[in-house]
Amino acid sequence: MKSVKTVAPPTIVVIFGGTGDLTKRKLLPAFYNLFLAGWLPEEFAIIGLGRSEFSDPNYRTHLFEGLTEFSRTGQPEKETWEKFNQKISYLRSDINDAAAYTVLAEKLDSLDKAWGLRSNRLFYLSVAPQFIEAVTVNLYNAQIASDVVKDHIIVEKPFGKDLATARSLNNLLTQHFQESQIFRIDHYLGKETVQNILAFRFANALFEPLWNRNFIDFVQISVAEEVGVEDRGGYYEGAGALRDMIQNHLLQLLCMVAMEPPVSFEAEEIRNRKADVLRAIRPLTHEQVTRYAVRGQYGPGWLQGKKVPGYREEESVRPDSNTETYAAVKFYLDNWRWQGVPFYLRTGKRMQEKTSSITVQFRPVPHSSFSNTMSENLMPNRLTINIQPQMDIRLRFMAKRSGLEMELTPAEMVFDYDTSSTQSPEAYETLLLDALQSDATLFMRSDQVEAAWEVITPILEAWESRTNLEFPNYSAGMWGPENAEALIAREGHTWAVSNFYNGQKKGR
Ligand code: BG6
Repeated sequence: MKSVKTVAPPTIVVIFGGTGDLTKRKLLPAFYNLFLAGWLPEEFAIIGLGRSEFSDPNYRTHLFEGLTEFSRTGQPEKETWEKFNQKISYLRSDINDAAAYTVLAEKLDSLDKAWGLRSNRLFYLSVAPQFIEAVTVNLYNAQIASDVVKDHIIVEKPFGKDLATARSLNNLLTQHFQESQIFRIDHYLGKETVQNILAFRFANALFEPLWNRNFIDFVQISVAEEVGVEDRGGYYEGAGALRDMIQNHLLQLLCMVAMEPPVSFEAEEIRNRKADVLRAIRPLTHEQVTRYAVRGQYGPGWLQGKKVPGYREEESVRPDSNTETYAAVKFYLDNWRWQGVPFYLRTGKRMQEKTSSITVQFRPVPHSSFSNTMSENLMPNRLTINIQPQMDIRLRFMAKRSGLEMELTPAEMVFDYDTSSTQSPEAYETLLLDALQSDATLFMRSDQVEAAWEVITPILEAWESRTNLEFPNYSAGMWGPENAEALIAREGHTWAVSNFYNGQKKGR
């Protein structure tokens, strides 16, 4: 991980899926904000590829609309946008057709010629999984991504559908490119609050000595979403919460929390330490799945005063769908640091509110010197890392309630991003700038992806082999199915009341 970032080297970004949602919502706003902040070089170009008919000006207008709607910096100023949009062009092409790559090669060469150099090339594969092979093979055959230092490809999830397909995807990619050229993106790793876990853990002497089984009782990682599957029913039916969120985002968060201190911030060192965590997760047997994992599917309900349909009523979803929109899993790590400490992961769609957080619950004091009345409110210390939308770190500790009597009350120390820093960059800004600078630290290596699939395979198999007759088992606007409570109640734990806002409890 580079501590000082410099302006990116001359680069041409080629986006396969240039007319797709991701380009409009995330990629273009991210590049534009990098441009605004001065990170992009003069010699920079974006070529969007797609099947639709667009002239360059029409394509720019299409992207401008996305920018206005989705960029954190809002509608661009006319003059700046005019300057930036000259860097954008469109190429109508069929990505299955080798001839399209010859046209692309000519375009790349002519830009290089105009600039008088061989620029770096970043190929962004924002396409459905079934097209990855065609793009990979055609790029390889056309020899336009053959410079192992200057050329990179970014691959969006899903990285396969299971372990076998992830392996064959990795084989396909590594047969055509060097591993160092491949950036597998998990946008959670680019989130400011997620990167901060490394700073918090490894730049403070205070927490790391306590960061182990002797002091920590359990860890919870929750990613709750308010949205349903929206128009992605077709994709989601074949995915489900376990594949869509746990296999990647939540397991990556777990790695950040549980990894050993790296010797340095070199990409391989960090990725090795994270891979160690995945390898340490105790494999579940099929018999254990019912005791260690809970699945849910939302039915109709109310959210923010509005009636919303159940999952089975969503577009492109089967009326008897067995796909989970909620998953909670208990993992143990078999290593010295974490032996016996449960890690609870949960995620769901159509929850009461959008909130993602990590809760580290410390063990209770070994002995309370306070009388029962004094210590009525005694609670163990708890560290909460709020990832989004609230971005803060909160440490709960016990204090004396102000007054003449000795009575304990929980208090909090808070580090709040909103008051402590300028507007945070979007995850895609961080990750794209890293990719432009060939820094792979925050991208996933093939072994990490495969290890994550291995972890969830028994759960996937168990769930797919048995139809859940209780689905739907939670109403939209609730916090998931009831048996998710039982999952952790067996250890005497409850899901965290994540936040205290102005002394008021909010969320769960
Ligand atoms: C994506 C999933 O990877 O992450 C979506 O496919 C999910 O289903 C999204 O909604 C959540 O991302 P964020 O950044 O909004 O938490």
